[in-house]
Amino acid sequence: MRPIIGHEELDLFCRLPYVLNAELADDLAAGRRRPEWMWVAVRGDRLLARVAWWGRSGGDAPLVLDVLDIEDGVSGADRVGVGVRLLHAATAAVLPSGSRPPEYSRFVPPHWRENAVTRQAVEDRMAVLERAGARLLVERLRLEWRPGSPVPEPDGRLVFRPVHDGEELVALMSSVLEGTLDAHDRDDLTRMPVHEVAVRHYEDELARYTSPREWWRVATLPSGEPVGFVVPARNDYNAIIAYVAVLPRHRGNGYIDGILAEGTRILAGQRVPRIRASTDLGNIPMANAFRRAGYIDFEREITMTWS
Ligand SMILES: CC(C)(COP(=O)(O)OP(=O)(O)OC[C@H]1O[C@@H](n2cnc3c(N)ncnc32)[C@H](O)[C@@H]1OP(=O)(O)O)[C@@H](O)C(=O)NCCC(=O)NCCS
Repeated sequence: MRPIIGHEELDLFCRLPYVLNAELADDLAAGRRRPEWMWVAVRGDRLLARVAWWGRSGGDAPLVLDVLDIEDGVSGADRVGVGVRLLHAATAAVLPSGSRPPEYSRFVPPHWRENAVTRQAVEDRMAVLERAGARLLVERLRLEWRPGSPVPEPDGRLVFRPVHDGEELVALMSSVLEGTLDAHDRDDLTRMPVHEVAVRHYEDELARYTSPREWWRVATLPSGEPVGFVVPARNDYNAIIAYVAVLPRHRGNGYIDGILAEGTRILAGQRVPRIRASTDLGNIPMANAFRRAGYIDFEREITMTWS
């Protein structure tokens, strides 16, 4: 069990299939991955398992554990054990001892429960994580809008304007946390006051996108009263709806449709090949709004965390 030596071992590392394999070379070149964060368990010239973390360019600690694979040929009784041993060795080397490990995130097919082989593989990986102390936080829908899908025209109920500044967005973000169905936000709210949850989300994610802030929109009534907001952006890989929400007192009036359409229209106007978004499987109002707006549910994400 060891980290890969560098770019030249990507072929070895990518012998196990996963959708992120295609991004690893660029990630390494950009510093979002490091060879010392990419571990393999090898027997002879056979790759038995692999583990890797992702981080931000220039950041000194990994932020997500997003690769954990065990080769299909590893026999039943040993499968979880191999994963546990590799994860243990890699964790000891990569993460500062005593720190809360970063979240585990794994993309899986939408109907993963219905195929016995896929289901077993997903559950084996989850068993490895559980043995390492992680627990399922939430399963999320990964959604995609493609050019050619219609974007509803504004219906005149809402007016859109740019966000004044980060402070205004943080204030709106604090308000929409009330009654949220989002599992990450709910979990954060058990650890931090509302304002801090909003500030962290803003500073750790939204403020870091280098796409224009003029894309961010506040939706208001014609009187100027804010109803919600949308943050369209571009991350390292895709155009995304980074955040969208309706203020608690305006929920249940279908305003989300107009707000999401506005965000989609802004990104579609950039002629992007796709727009990505995600929401919790249990955030039914949001999932329904994405579907009404033409977003296709193409993948799921399993997230697990340590307490
Ligand atoms: C998800 C959200 C944008 C939906 O906005 P909305 O304008 O209320 O959506 P809709 O008008 O389509 O509401 C659909 C139904 O879900 C209900 N609903 C909406 N949000 C709800 C919530 N947080 N909890 C319980 N029910 C909710 C509405 O009351 C409505 O019920 P009804 O049809 O019986 O009246 C809004 O709840 C919100 O901002 N949530 C917090 C932030 C969030 O989750 N953003 C998405 C992150 S990916």
